Amino acid sequence: MKNITVVGVGYVGLVTAVCFADLGNRVVALDINEERIENLKKGIMPIYEPGLAEVAARNVKAKRLFFTTSYKEALADAEFVFIAVGTPEGVDGEADLQYVRMAAESIAQNMDHPLIIINKSTVPVGTGDWVADIVRQNQPEPIDFSVVSCPEFLREGSALSDFLNPDRTVLGSEDLEAAERVAQLHLPLRAPIMVTDLRTAEMIKYASNAFLATRISFINEIANICEALGADVKEVARGMGYDKRIGHHFLEAGVGYGGSCFPKDVKALAYMAQVHGKHPQLLHAVMEINAYQRKHVILKVHELLDGVKDKTIALLGLAFKQDTDDMREAPSLTIAEYLHERGAHVRGYDPVAMEVAKRLMPYVEMCGDAYELATGADALITLTPWNEFKQLDMERIKSLMRTPALVDGRNLYDPALMHRIGFAYRGIGRGYNGAGEKA
Ligand code: UGA
Repeated sequence: MKNITVVGVGYVGLVTAVCFADLGNRVVALDINEERIENLKKGIMPIYEPGLAEVAARNVKAKRLFFTTSYKEALADAEFVFIAVGTPEGVDGEADLQYVRMAAESIAQNMDHPLIIINKSTVPVGTGDWVADIVRQNQPEPIDFSVVSCPEFLREGSALSDFLNPDRTVLGSEDLEAAERVAQLHLPLRAPIMVTDLRTAEMIKYASNAFLATRISFINEIANICEALGADVKEVARGMGYDKRIGHHFLEAGVGYGGSCFPKDVKALAYMAQVHGKHPQLLHAVMEINAYQRKHVILKVHELLDGVKDKTIALLGLAFKQDTDDMREAPSLTIAEYLHERGAHVRGYDPVAMEVAKRLMPYVEMCGDAYELATGADALITLTPWNEFKQLDMERIKSLMRTPALVDGRNLYDPALMHRIGFAYRGIGRGYNGAGEKA
């Protein structure tokens, strides 16, 4: 058992705290947001993440997991302190580090014994050194500490299992002994542990997210070419994926990536490159293609409806992806706003994100389920690949709609079947299949 403190109870922080507690450690999770901490003490999670509330409750009960707003209390017995605060996008696309700074200052002011400070937040390359400077400058008297970078690779919606079954643990530090102790903490995860220097570890996180985003933009570009040439991108991706050098993951064409990570991290990496006089052409192309995918979906709706003014348009799925209520950079936001501004009546349904979505899109009429959503609609657009959308009674959906226009922004349905049912169907990159005729 180790004593661990986690600063920040957002996605990464809370999952880190809960999982380390579940591995048998004593964990204190700290946040400066009192309401969040009070709620957590009552078992109310600030985010929707499958399994999180149950595992948190189990560890609170076992007295392995504690919540506090007090740095003094949180650091009293700590050996390791994880910084897992938000790094939102700043004005020019660079990461905004104000929360990391606040955390580092507070740790420095409240520590009374040596600590290993581990950065889990996605931070610009060089931040580890900067954190060390801040801690040094803010300590009332010098106490030993080390900074280790340990980037997190978990995905929303499968965060617990991603944390507990990582492909690898990356550790970066100039202090090899500290890195070794952090490595010990990760041994129960039974994944390869790589130790490198601080800046390289920080870069591994950005390069990984940028690479995954590039795969998505790549397949989206191929999808758009498939549409022009009559090929089906789903089959193309399947055929490509059998090549072990390529693999099947992250080759799903659609409405483009969203969420709190890829958009922000690709932009931040491009910004870092530019600040240092480099020209990140590929990263710019990745972002451009991603932005275009939203427009591409809108163009398909226009094509099927001959304009959107006074039309009722139904958005099936609002969250940026399935199994989350996260609406950050969700394609639905851009698409709903565009349609609303052009005079369409926009409706939406999402299994878990509607509460959050209502606040962000007050002009969208929220519906109780997919069938209510379809009733009287002129077009239905799928925007989130929730499992429950894959087996809908599509004949019923069609019969409920005013005009059966289906824009499948996530390629959830079989184009041929949709044509047979009587939909005017458009998928993403489905070639002759999607258009139902030779282009
Ligand atoms: C992503 C990374 O996958 C994690 O490894 C990383 O830790 C995390 O960012 C982070 O930096 O914190 P996440 O944003 O939760 O995780 O979600 P993903 O499952 O990666 O999906 C990102 C976006 O890409 C979603 O909008 C998803 O719908 C889209 N996507 C994904 C596609 O359009 N096509 C695909 O083939 C895969």
